[in-house]
Amino acid sequence: MSRSDALALHGGRPVRERMLPYGRHEIDEADIQAVVEVLRGEWLTNGPTVARFEQAFAETVGAKFAVAFSSGTAALHAAAFVSGIGPGDEVITSPLTFLASANCLLYCGARPIFADIDPATLNLDPAAVQAALSPRTKAILPIHFAGLPCHMDAIHTIARSRNLTVIEDAAHALGAEIDGRRIGGLSDLTTFSFHPVKHITTGEGGMVTGNDPALAGGLKQFRNHGIEREVRQRQGTTPGAWRQDMIALGFNYRLTDIQSALGLSQLRRLDARLKRREDIARRYREAFAAMPEVTVAPTRQGTRHAWHIYPLLLNGDRLQRDREAIFQALRAENIGASVHYLPVHLHPYYRERLGTGPGLCPAAEAAFERLLTLPLFPGMTDGDVADVIAAVEKVIRWARK
Ligand SMILES: Cc1ncc(COP(=O)(O)O)c(C=O)c1O
Repeated sequence: MSRSDALALHGGRPVRERMLPYGRHEIDEADIQAVVEVLRGEWLTNGPTVARFEQAFAETVGAKFAVAFSSGTAALHAAAFVSGIGPGDEVITSPLTFLASANCLLYCGARPIFADIDPATLNLDPAAVQAALSPRTKAILPIHFAGLPCHMDAIHTIARSRNLTVIEDAAHALGAEIDGRRIGGLSDLTTFSFHPVKHITTGEGGMVTGNDPALAGGLKQFRNHGIEREVRQRQGTTPGAWRQDMIALGFNYRLTDIQSALGLSQLRRLDARLKRREDIARRYREAFAAMPEVTVAPTRQGTRHAWHIYPLLLNGDRLQRDREAIFQALRAENIGASVHYLPVHLHPYYRERLGTGPGLCPAAEAAFERLLTLPLFPGMTDGDVADVIAAVEKVIRWARK
């Protein structure tokens, strides 16, 4: 074995010198200038830049409104709250997601019901959703795993038949489309995240989109302590302009104008970034589609994938090393591989408090054992992509049977 073939894990030379993360933000000079402009202005929070960001975002995703939040988690909490989800309610969601998708239901005193995924898409299986319905079901909360749109037609049909609310967790899916229509205006409410690894960032931040103006009002109150009017509606000399009547129990979940300026600036480059993400995913597909030891990330006819992450599936029957060994070997090559996600129902908190555990969602559990996330972000150079491919090929050569 030549020195370059020896795994870095075994003392060989790593494929690259510096760690390549699985996701990374991209900030350019225009972003910096946009933030500086707000810093020099009148409003740092509660100001007009938040409204401009919301307007531009709603137009981008094809929704009637967008309401900004301090995080994607806050956006989910607010969406669940204004949907009237509360104690005694059940909400059907996917186990293969980040904890926040289900935690928002616990915040409201409701119970998440984990329906299994379709292994062909890694998204909620509509048949499993149907089977999970009960008289207490209030809503369905699908997530578009990795950025691949769920079977929303089937989910909407189930929801209509039982008068259920649909909240989409689109933290992975900004820019994703179903039959040419962007995710964001298709369901009662849709939530997004602007964490740095997402399609656009505000440092921390989130958004709820939808089409019913009554819900928009409720969302604005919820992010501002449950106060009826926002500060910009309380300016001027009219009698009682000072009043801040609280009509619901809300939180301080506001996004600042500083963050909104960054979001607005980032949004302008969304299309170019989506194309670059697609391009990288295509190169991975071309490199790995013919390797029997792995299965490439699923795609689906009639949808546009937003490629938030690249989930590669390991084919255990072709490998003599397990996922953990392959993960470690890739990290040693300085490829920041990761795993998304430990299914929510297997987390200690859920097991202890909700009595969930292995066997509840066999397809999600089986997928989890096989999943490896490869680096994917628009700032990756062609050389970075080539490094990931070379490292996967090197590690799989060692790991295969
Ligand atoms: C699917 C999903 N939902 C919700 C969130 C929560 O978003 P945030 O980190 O902005 O609170 C994230 C990510 O971080 C996510 O991946």
